[in-house]
Amino acid sequence: MIQVNDIYKTYKIKDKYGNKSTLNAVNGVSFTLKENTSYSLVGQSGSGKSTLAKLLVFVEKSTEGEIFIDGENLSLLSKDQIRKKRSNFQMVMQDAKSSLNPKYTVFESISEPLLIFEKLSKNQLNHRVMNLLNMVELPQELTERYPHQLSGGQLKRICIARAIALNPKLIVFDEAVSGLDVTVRKKILELLIRLRKKLSATYLFITHDIDVALFLSKNVFVMKDGVIVEYNQNANDFSSFKHEYSKLLIKSLPPVYPSQNNNLKVNII
Ligand SMILES: Nc1ncnc2c1ncn2[C@@H]1O[C@H](COP(=O)(O)OP(=O)(O)OP(=O)(O)O)[C@@H](O)[C@H]1O
Ligand SMILES: [Mg+2]
Repeated sequence: MIQVNDIYKTYKIKDKYGNKSTLNAVNGVSFTLKENTSYSLVGQSGSGKSTLAKLLVFVEKSTEGEIFIDGENLSLLSKDQIRKKRSNFQMVMQDAKSSLNPKYTVFESISEPLLIFEKLSKNQLNHRVMNLLNMVELPQELTERYPHQLSGGQLKRICIARAIALNPKLIVFDEAVSGLDVTVRKKILELLIRLRKKLSATYLFITHDIDVALFLSKNVFVMKDGVIVEYNQNANDFSSFKHEYSKLLIKSLPPVYPSQNNNLKVNII
């Protein structure tokens, strides 16, 4: 179980004249994520979703507040202590290409977390990498390719393989399908649903698209200006959202989405 108690992230920023100010990207957020449960986090661009995700996987340190994993207060740990626990919480970053090392082949990218955290023989490593490629439904022929030789959907799958490699307790997917074309988007969403059935973990899907949020989970957090404004634990359709901001997100979906009609089943294009 992951428990977040009143966390804040404040950035110091400078304008073009050199004037300093602060920006509260995450502004007092509390929630609990249960084991083997999926959650979605939705909000417009700049609402603080990625910042919150980075705090959850300890890529960034919160300015204030605490995060407990299975009762342990990880906010009290040093960078070194956190590093040792990193295998427990993984994140698939918003930008797949820049999160992969351009000098690493697919095999090397997927091996990296395994080599850091586990002692494996060459054969065992090979077996694990092939197994992970299978899990993300990529052909084994890709192992010697470099990131620039792969499509957006393939890059995303490699990032997912890296994230699931160590059987983490928490996996955060930051905008798992944004920037992908319609057919690839659908395939990745379906892959995520299949993975969830195979791998028990807590899943947090971050998206600016409330339709995607609903497709991936019945537990939807809605974030606005660094704050969770609604937690819908029964997100079966759009009519289940109560907050004005959530309704605005629904209204601003492009007209191609038939699911704006509350009676229709959510339809992912
Ligand atoms: N390293 C940083 N330094 C200063 N400000 C930052 C930093 N990272 C994020 N911000 C600011 O914090 C706010 C929240 O950013 P964040 O990336 O968390 O939003 P988001 O909801 O993920 O947006 P998007 O949907 O566009 O990815 C924004 O105003 C952003 O400009
Ligand atoms: Mg973001």
